[in-house]
Amino acid sequence: MPFYSEKVMEHFANPRNVGEIKDADGVGEVGNPVCGDMMTFYIKVKNNIVSDVKFKTFGCGAAIAVSSMVSEMAMGKTVEEVMKITNADVAKELGGLPPNKMHCSNLGADALHKAVKDYRQKQGVK
Ligand code: FES
Repeated sequence: MPFYSEKVMEHFANPRNVGEIKDADGVGEVGNPVCGDMMTFYIKVKNNIVSDVKFKTFGCGAAIAVSSMVSEMAMGKTVEEVMKITNADVAKELGGLPPNKMHCSNLGADALHKAVKDYRQKQGVK
């Protein structure tokens, strides 16, 4: 059993914001080359603020906890603030991840940022 923080276990057991947004303003999907796990983020944006976030993750427990934490961190933030959330921030918020699970945190912020980029592209912003 790897040494997961209580926060990781809690988010894994009760992930927030699981699901899909059918009319999402932005969608970001990434795959992890290390393990083949997949993560998709859906965002709604109102007045430059992320008003809703949902995710679907086919991955390990750490990846699910990371997605859940990322969704909470993004909610209510401006798109600029969301772009500044790093993978290290996510791991830190989760109380750390075991070294062999750090790669799992890479998916989280990447998928979120991709969703924002998709949103911007749809808005015609570079
Ligand atoms: Fe694949 Fe964690 S082992 S994301």
